[in-house]
Amino acid sequence: MQAEYRHRREQLMLKIGNGTAIFRSAPTAVMHNDVEYNFRQDSDFFYLTGFNEPQAVAVLAPHHSEHRFVLFVQPKDLEKEVWSGYRCGVEAAKQEYGADEAYPITELDEKLPQYLEKADRIYYHLGRDRAFNDKILKHWQSLMRTYPKRGTGPIAIEDTGPVLHSMRLVKSQAELELMRKAADIAVEAHNHAMKFASPGRYEYEIQAEIEYIFRRHGAIGPAYPSIVASGRNSCILHYIENNRQMQDQDLLLIDAGCAYDYYNSDITRTFPVGGKFTPEQKILYEIVLNAQKQAIAQVQPGNPYKQIHDTAVRVLTEGLVGLGILTGEIDKLIEEEKYKPYYMHRTGHWLGLDVHDVGVYQHGDDKPQILQPGQVLTVEPGLYIVPDAKLAEEQPQTDPRWVGIGIRIEDDVLVTPTGHEVLTAGVPKEVHEVER
Ligand code: GLY
Ligand code: MN
Ligand code: MN
Repeated sequence: MQAEYRHRREQLMLKIGNGTAIFRSAPTAVMHNDVEYNFRQDSDFFYLTGFNEPQAVAVLAPHHSEHRFVLFVQPKDLEKEVWSGYRCGVEAAKQEYGADEAYPITELDEKLPQYLEKADRIYYHLGRDRAFNDKILKHWQSLMRTYPKRGTGPIAIEDTGPVLHSMRLVKSQAELELMRKAADIAVEAHNHAMKFASPGRYEYEIQAEIEYIFRRHGAIGPAYPSIVASGRNSCILHYIENNRQMQDQDLLLIDAGCAYDYYNSDITRTFPVGGKFTPEQKILYEIVLNAQKQAIAQVQPGNPYKQIHDTAVRVLTEGLVGLGILTGEIDKLIEEEKYKPYYMHRTGHWLGLDVHDVGVYQHGDDKPQILQPGQVLTVEPGLYIVPDAKLAEEQPQTDPRWVGIGIRIEDDVLVTPTGHEVLTAGVPKEVHEVER
């Protein structure tokens, strides 16, 4: 993997020319009182270094004569390591992580200026940490003060996002291997959950089975809080209480994926707990399934990203009109977003080191993002006939027989040179497959 991280840094350095890029690790593990919770490395930092410790800074200075890649890290401290775990330390940061130079993080202020004074720009993301922003801005200010004497120095700060995130958007073979692993583990978990669920069981029992399978296969854990939503809970998009006892005639919506080596999967299936759909559930399910299949069919290199959502919206709107839940002319209903009370979210997102991964969906109003091989995205249309009183106001004429049914179907899809590959195809979704 070190060769891969080096390659990424080289690619980024090509793009920043005479600039210097600064990346900060995630600060420390989240603390609640004095109990430390899991540390999760910053995704940009991890993508470029593979270095998995807090309190670190990576500097890329392609114009520097000797030190193009510099790491500032926590120094070895055997006493602290007894409490908080192994630290790589300064020396090993060079040997194991390929840094041309490494320093203790305490020397950041002293050593950083030499990597900035010849740069024409600082690449740095200002959005994360105010105290650290101040530090960088102070360095910048003092370099600007001495700029007239030297005639060199960074004249602007540019966000690292546009350059780095367009790289992260297209996955390498090594990344795809990890994403396939994350997908396979979640596929197994969903298949097991589908067999395990039955009337009388509690939602949390299903959650436990799923997360057990994640961890047993070496996943770090759930990619996001697992959603196990039965009956009317399926209409709550981010339902995570997972404490209801399931009944016959319920649908169960499970939205769960895992993080494997920081790469994520994200799968949703909806199926009848008792083994058979009611007629209403089946009708709505088939509309969502059709929308999902047609949307997935749009995942082709060269297609605008937006076409996936537009396709899903059209199929769902036609379905709602077919049932009399919406009335009117399809194009007009779509234009006026009349489907929104029943379908209030987007049809998917990029997937990778982050569940809602980085990368733009649209380059301004008139330039679409065009799909290209190596991108991974979710396709997740749904319909939610919400029982909640307020939302019910927005769904006024809905026949009560539909109310309380929530359905979502979500797969992870890779754009390939010739079309697409559904990485999570191993979880069934046809009506006859999810019925028993
Ligand atoms: N479970 C998060 C999502 O589907 O986007
Ligand atoms: Mn998703
Ligand atoms: Mn999901």
